Amino acid sequence: MQIAIVTLFPELFSPFLELSFVGRAVSTGIVQVHLEPMRKHGLGKHLSVDDTPYGGGSGMLMRPDTTVAAIEAAEAALASPTRPRRVLLTPQGARFTQPKARALASESSLILICGRYEGFDERVRHFVDEELSIGDFVLTGGEVAAMCVVEACIRLLPGVLGNADSATEESFSAECGGLLEYPQYTRPVSFRDLEVPEVLRSGDHAKVRAWRAHASVDRTRQRRPDLCAEIPKSGGKP
Ligand code: 6GU
Repeated sequence: MQIAIVTLFPELFSPFLELSFVGRAVSTGIVQVHLEPMRKHGLGKHLSVDDTPYGGGSGMLMRPDTTVAAIEAAEAALASPTRPRRVLLTPQGARFTQPKARALASESSLILICGRYEGFDERVRHFVDEELSIGDFVLTGGEVAAMCVVEACIRLLPGVLGNADSATEESFSAECGGLLEYPQYTRPVSFRDLEVPEVLRSGDHAKVRAWRAHASVDRTRQRRPDLCAEIPKSGGKP
C-alpha cells in the first residue's frame, strides 16, 4: 500500500512512522509513505499557503492553488498504477469508523490532506474523493487525524500484526457483531482483592465463549447503546 500525506508539518510524522508496528510496516515495505510538505508549494517570499477569507471574518484559509499543487505533487511522487484515493481531513467530514478503515486499507494508494488554519477554500473539495473527520471535536490541524487513519489502516494489512487473529476479534469487527470487546484478564488471578472471573479459569471453552458473548453485549448496551439498537434484550423476551 502507498500513502502520501500532504502537510505543513511533515516533521510531526517522524517518530510515528519510525516506531512500533507502523515503523515495521514501513521498513519491511508493506506500506510506503511519502510526505509532501505543503510549504514547498507556497507562494511569494513567505511561501504562503493561506490567505484571508473573501467577505471578511476571522482566521485564515488554506489557498486552493497551493493546496491542489501539493496534492498533485504527492500524486506524482506516488507514481501509483491506479489513481490514489484523495482524502481531505477536516472536522466537517464524514465520521471515520472501522468500516471506513477497512475500505481505505483495501485501496492500493491514498493521499491524506491535512489542513491548518480555519479550513480550506471551498474549491479544494472539488479535487478530493472524500472528506473525513475523526470525531466531533476540533483539532488545529488534520495531522493527528491523518495518523489515526494511517494507523487504523496499516494494522489491517496482511503481515502487519503478529497474531493473525488480533485484528479480527476486537471491538467493532464483524466477528464481534459490531460490538465492544468483552473484558479480558491476565495474571495475577487476584489483584488487590479483584478476582479473575472463575469461568475464565474453568477450562470449559464453551462456557468461556458464552460468557464472553454475553459480556460483550452487556458492555455494548451499557456504554454504546447506539451500536446495539438491534440486539434483542437478554433472554430474548420483549
Ligand atoms: Cl480530520 N481535522 C481537524 N482539524 N479537526 C478534527 C478532525 C479533523 N476530526 C475531528 N476534528
